[in-house]
Amino acid sequence: MEYNTLEKARKYEKENGSKIPASDRPAFHLTPYVGWTNDPNGFSYFGGKYHLFYQYNPYDTRWDSMHWGHAVSSDMVKWEHLPAALAPENEYDSFGCFSGSALETEDGKHYIIYTGVRKADDGKEYQTQCVAVGDGKDYRKYENNPVLTSRDLPGGLSPYDFRDPKVFRDEEGKYLCVVGGKNEKGLGEILLFASDDGFNWHFRSVLATNDGEYGCMWECPDFFMLGEDAVLITSPQDMAAKGLDYHSGNGTLCQIGTYDRAAGVFKRCSAQTIDHGIDFYAPQTMQAPDGRRIMIAWMQNWDTCNTSGYRNLPWFGQMTIARELSLRDGKLYQMPVSELDKYRKDKIEYKEVKVNGELSLKGVEGRCLDMTLKIRPADSRNLFKRFTMFFAKDGSHSSRINFFPGDNVFETDRRLSGSRRANIHQRSCNVRDLGGEIVLRIIMDRFSIEVFINGGEQVMSTTILTDPAAGEIYFECDGEAIIDVIKYTLDMEE
Ligand code: FRU
Repeated sequence: MEYNTLEKARKYEKENGSKIPASDRPAFHLTPYVGWTNDPNGFSYFGGKYHLFYQYNPYDTRWDSMHWGHAVSSDMVKWEHLPAALAPENEYDSFGCFSGSALETEDGKHYIIYTGVRKADDGKEYQTQCVAVGDGKDYRKYENNPVLTSRDLPGGLSPYDFRDPKVFRDEEGKYLCVVGGKNEKGLGEILLFASDDGFNWHFRSVLATNDGEYGCMWECPDFFMLGEDAVLITSPQDMAAKGLDYHSGNGTLCQIGTYDRAAGVFKRCSAQTIDHGIDFYAPQTMQAPDGRRIMIAWMQNWDTCNTSGYRNLPWFGQMTIARELSLRDGKLYQMPVSELDKYRKDKIEYKEVKVNGELSLKGVEGRCLDMTLKIRPADSRNLFKRFTMFFAKDGSHSSRINFFPGDNVFETDRRLSGSRRANIHQRSCNVRDLGGEIVLRIIMDRFSIEVFINGGEQVMSTTILTDPAAGEIYFECDGEAIIDVIKYTLDMEE
């Protein structure tokens, strides 16, 4: 069998990546060097820079032959592509170098642990955990890979669904990692493994088990403390919708609870969806040097990959903006990292503007922007029925966000974004009852909108492929609302 080597990938991306004009990509959301990306991998701080790797097929805009692409940034906003880091060129990972994570070792090396997948003669895909170590650019796979195989699994767990190691270190410097597994009932189990050196690993405990309430297999686990609370993030496959939550098919779940260190067991106190938009999967976090817990996810839904039906871009898949996480009253909050602020230009501000019917505001337009929009009723005893912001609009296209204060529901709607497919184009979520008030922080890039609602209590991330020239914005209110607007253009030139 001929493998797709790293050398071949690096040559290919050098020749083809530069052919993609910057204007055909998002301005500040990471896209693959060339070809396809899905999950963010190995999000870490090493050698004075943030590193983000990603599931990557350089050769096509479809999922295949998983490599690890690689990008670095000094601020998590402006990313620079580096040459691919891993290729599926060994027997144990010949079907793909699947998702994993990274950290800086005490002796200053960049340590990667990932899932190596091999297709056996029986046609089945065997998943094992493998290690590579590097200098921030070039990585060498460990000669005794794989470091964890199905032999290390407790009884009853599947050798075909054992993936996505997330590594971290405990207070004593011991290596720990959580890995997704699947039991005989077809449900996810999050397994905890331990190691003194990152190379010799052993099974420690089942950290958490899916009782069937949240999807089936749990992919891409992440586990960390946020203050006193333990947080377990997973991406469950085949989720059933509950009310307005969990409509993404393969969705995301944040469980908040307690961690019994001695037993290696997590106990859930509450659960919530992470992002209520259409496009969000496989989030991964890292701890920045200043202690902040930062998360980036794949801004895409598996069920709508390559199905827009009208745009044929030379890349597919993009990451969300980096988000700082916090907990308030037992709930996960997210806000864009403050590093984004330095790219804000051309401030435009409007205060106390009455909206009844349609309204556009001079200077409030464009596709790369950071806008804070406060909406409140003109008369709190007489709530407006609906407030809408139309964006990415031209003569025949528009997308919108809607707020229905009577129901405390917020909605994204991209039905008129230009799609030619019967995909999902609307998504709603419940928001806090603030008597008809809502505060939105809206981050828009050429091919997406991320809305942080009420200080990040809910977030809605949605891709749109509307021609970036469609840049009109206007507001519409069914009833009477008062708005405050602060709008900046996001400009990546420093
Ligand atoms: C999640 C996932 C991971 C896997 C990777 C393969 O999107 O299915 O579980 O490692 O993608 O590309």
